[in-house]
Amino acid sequence: MPSLTLSFLVALAISGVQVTAQNCACGYKDSSGHVWREAIISTFTQSAGALAAVNNDWIIATDFEAQGGTATANIQYTTANVFEYQDALGLKASAYTGGGSVNCAEIFTNRKDILYGSFRMRAQVPSVPGVVFGFFTYISDTQEQDIEFLSSDVDYYQQVHYTNQPGSLNGNPDPDAAKDVTIPGADFTTFGVHRFDWLPTQTVYSYDGSGLTSQTIISKNVPTTPSEFILNVWSNGDPGWSHGPPTADAIATVQYVNLYFNSTSFSATAFNSACSAAGNIAPCSV
Ligand SMILES: *[C@@H]1O[C@H](CO)[C@@H](O)[C@H](O)[C@H]1NC(C)=O
Repeated sequence: MPSLTLSFLVALAISGVQVTAQNCACGYKDSSGHVWREAIISTFTQSAGALAAVNNDWIIATDFEAQGGTATANIQYTTANVFEYQDALGLKASAYTGGGSVNCAEIFTNRKDILYGSFRMRAQVPSVPGVVFGFFTYISDTQEQDIEFLSSDVDYYQQVHYTNQPGSLNGNPDPDAAKDVTIPGADFTTFGVHRFDWLPTQTVYSYDGSGLTSQTIISKNVPTTPSEFILNVWSNGDPGWSHGPPTADAIATVQYVNLYFNSTSFSATAFNSACSAAGNIAPCSV
């Protein structure tokens, strides 16, 4: 059994999550039939608490990010803004008090070797205007694919922005790389599953909630470089994107993040040996 799978099972045992320990030595098969070798399962509703799940696989950002252009405030990522909230994980951009920077929240994976996968979160978007809630892979500004919610959008509860960066071409939005999707009837302020599948030739973005499903494919600017995974809630007051800063605390609530993926650290050959040693059992269905 690869140590990653073992440590995953041990983590589940320690955290007391009520699951039957599954042996996924032969990977994870998703609803599209793709097989992924590894997983990071962050169950923020677990009895050990949301922050215990964060500490297993994520780093809480503490950096200061000076902003330029039309931004009106800087970003200060703050440990305290990543917190246990309503039996889940809260990610908060704090009410702006004028000090020049907005206290914001970000977590990113320890790992930067993720290359292709199926990434899901069950979450509620912030409803206080003036922030961005992001769920994305990142390694550089041109190797990045994003799900973003803008709480200042008039129909923020049913509008989502999907982008394979760069999302603009010659200074204009590139409709083939950046899609603003409205899902009539959706209410993102209730818990729903937001997902994207990063494949070699396309990114398949989707939503499952409010009793409906929606899918959007972007085939342009699909990243090809091993990356980290990030969630954040931030504002820099830029009237062109985040708007704000928020005048009250703006909080995203996340019940889980499940990342199923391949990486450059655990090769297909090593995976095949581990699967064979486990008796070529069926992959876990996810
Ligand atoms: C992920 O790994 C599985 C198992 O090694 C392999 O079959 C699949 O082709 C890989 N997916 C991608 C997109 O590389």
